[in-house]
Amino acid sequence: MKRTIFAGIGHYVPEKVITNSDLEKWMDTTDEWIQERTGIKERRWVKEGQTVSGLAFEATKIALQRAQLAPQDIEFIIFASMESDVVFPGGGCFLQQKLEIPGVPSMDIRNQCSGFLYGLAVADQFIKTGMYKTILLVGSEIQSTGLDLTTRGRDMAVLFGDGAGAAVLTASNDADRGVIVTKLHADGRFTDKLWGEWPSITHHPRITAEMLETDRIYPKMEGRYVFKHAVTRFPEVIHEALNEAGYSIDQVDLVVPHQANLRITEAVAQRLGVGMDKVYSNIHKYGNTTAATIPICLSEAWEEGRIKQGNVVALASFGSGFTWASSLVKW
Ligand code: ACO
Repeated sequence: MKRTIFAGIGHYVPEKVITNSDLEKWMDTTDEWIQERTGIKERRWVKEGQTVSGLAFEATKIALQRAQLAPQDIEFIIFASMESDVVFPGGGCFLQQKLEIPGVPSMDIRNQCSGFLYGLAVADQFIKTGMYKTILLVGSEIQSTGLDLTTRGRDMAVLFGDGAGAAVLTASNDADRGVIVTKLHADGRFTDKLWGEWPSITHHPRITAEMLETDRIYPKMEGRYVFKHAVTRFPEVIHEALNEAGYSIDQVDLVVPHQANLRITEAVAQRLGVGMDKVYSNIHKYGNTTAATIPICLSEAWEEGRIKQGNVVALASFGSGFTWASSLVKW
């Protein structure tokens, strides 16, 4: 059976840096509170006119160049994002337009922080069965335009950033490389613990002028509740992947968790019994970029030489839904 390998990985973040001090100007918060609770120092936010497909396109160009492939080599696009450039169609079609590869199938995955790993599981199945040999998997997010930048929304607004990461996945005959296992989970009992409620199709019409006056048009989270579930689910789903693959945590060279919060990452490292030197974190620079955090981390870790061919990398995510997932990859 074919194995799915990461032939190229790239990332792109917008140029505009928003520091914690910038946020202090708009809401009642402090650099100290944000750093202590989340580990975030700054994040990147888009400027007017930038799109999720545009960020994805920039990341894809880098991934393709590193894979030494051209857009025409892509046989299938998987686009993981909470958003699109418009309400519909999905962002994958906008990305395909930019890549100038009409006719190539494109699928959007809307699984929030777990979107990239759900996408990886789908891509891996297509490659294993021989349906496609080259798949573009992207995580791209613009959160900044949907946040409440007043004190009312400060618990969420300080956490999120914009960015994109892209992976060119190809089929390999090398049985000792590639995606070893992927594990996926969801629990819809917790949909309202972290969600964006309005505008909603349950209202007639979906959006009204009155809605815009309320805070229900902004994302909402029960922070402590999410924290508690995250620190349990991350190690659990990593162990699930390790057990299925017959690996121990000692055989893992690098753990790359979804970047939700540095405190969550530290708690996960502790529960896994590994030092932070074995866990990748860049949340201090980018905040939480939802489906984009894992590919951005992979791209930076690869650039820094922290992921080399032959290394075993454990990927894990947890987020809205709740959804959570993991994968073990031999690079
Ligand atoms: N600046 C200053 N004060 C704030 C801010 C802010 N940005 N946000 C909230 N506060 C205040 C609150 O109003 C509250 O004040 P009060 O005591 O007077 O009522 C106080 O700080 C404590 O608020 P809590 O929400 O209890 O703060 P907590 O210690 O739980 O930290 C946080 C909040 C960081 C969000 C935490 O709950 C957390 O890490 N949750 C995990 C969820 C997460 O990271 N989600 C990311 C998205 S989901 C994902 O990717 C998995």
